[in-house]
Amino acid sequence: MAHYDTLSLTVDDDRIAQLTLDRPEALNALNSAMMAEFAAALVEATQSGARALILTGKGRAFAAGADIAEMRDRTFGSMSDANHLALWERLADLPIPTIGAINGFALGGGCEIAMMCDILIAGESASFGLPEITLGIIPGIGGTQRLTRIVGKAQAMDLILTGRRIDADEARRLGLISRVVVDGEVVEQAQVIARQIAGSSARAVRAAKECVLRADQSSLSEGLLFERRWFHSLFAFDDQTEGMTAFLEKRPARFADA
Ligand code: HXC
Repeated sequence: MAHYDTLSLTVDDDRIAQLTLDRPEALNALNSAMMAEFAAALVEATQSGARALILTGKGRAFAAGADIAEMRDRTFGSMSDANHLALWERLADLPIPTIGAINGFALGGGCEIAMMCDILIAGESASFGLPEITLGIIPGIGGTQRLTRIVGKAQAMDLILTGRRIDADEARRLGLISRVVVDGEVVEQAQVIARQIAGSSARAVRAAKECVLRADQSSLSEGLLFERRWFHSLFAFDDQTEGMTAFLEKRPARFADA
């Protein structure tokens, strides 16, 4: 693995990648150096053959948002000319499943990155929010769009216009995250989920991820057709035969690539 200054990347023997944001002294505030390393680490994780990626933060935050100290003196020109922030979006495009393991604060850009993950779990004392409005700006890496799609207009307006923070329980009630776990066990639980996914057919996992994501981006009829085509396609591969044979023979499936 390459060396990074603002994060760490590991890939274990089960091919589970873990990317840990690592600027705990600034609550993992997202700066330009971290964005560049983040994009490079995603490429490295994918090229390593990882079957799932866990994203978490070191210390008492997942990430407390964009680095305000770095952002304060930026201008319209310096933000827009370089399409500043675009690299964060690479997370949403990753072909393998991503699991956000949220420890502590997930605010502003931190919450927006979390919402790019496929599965989100959080410790009991985690908190979420989009406080950009209190800084005279708005969310800039998908917050207004993803939050609205996830929780609906009423809740999104409430959170984005007030900038208020919500705790993990409320986040789960709203459908922003799927599980609340004991503080200190967030990464461990994410690993359990990742291992479960890594034991399935990689092709089926990829198909399932693509289909669910398609639901946000297409009409119902297009989405249903997309799903049906993927469903048919999976019968072209050995994994389908193995999965069904294993069931009938009452044994665990042994997928070739798992
Ligand atoms: C830079 C930050 C930071 C941030 C915390 N720190 N958040 N530095 N950018 N976003 C730094 C603090 O300055 C402090 O440094 C150290 O981390 C610890 O933070 P404290 O404030 O002392 O901790 P605490 O009192 O526990 O409060 C925690 C907090 C608060 C509630 C999370 O830090 C906070 O409100 N942070 C800002 C949250 C925010 O507004 N995020 C949105 C950013 S805009 P020192 O050196 O003093 O110890 C954004 C735009 C997204 O995200 C669009 C593009 C990505």
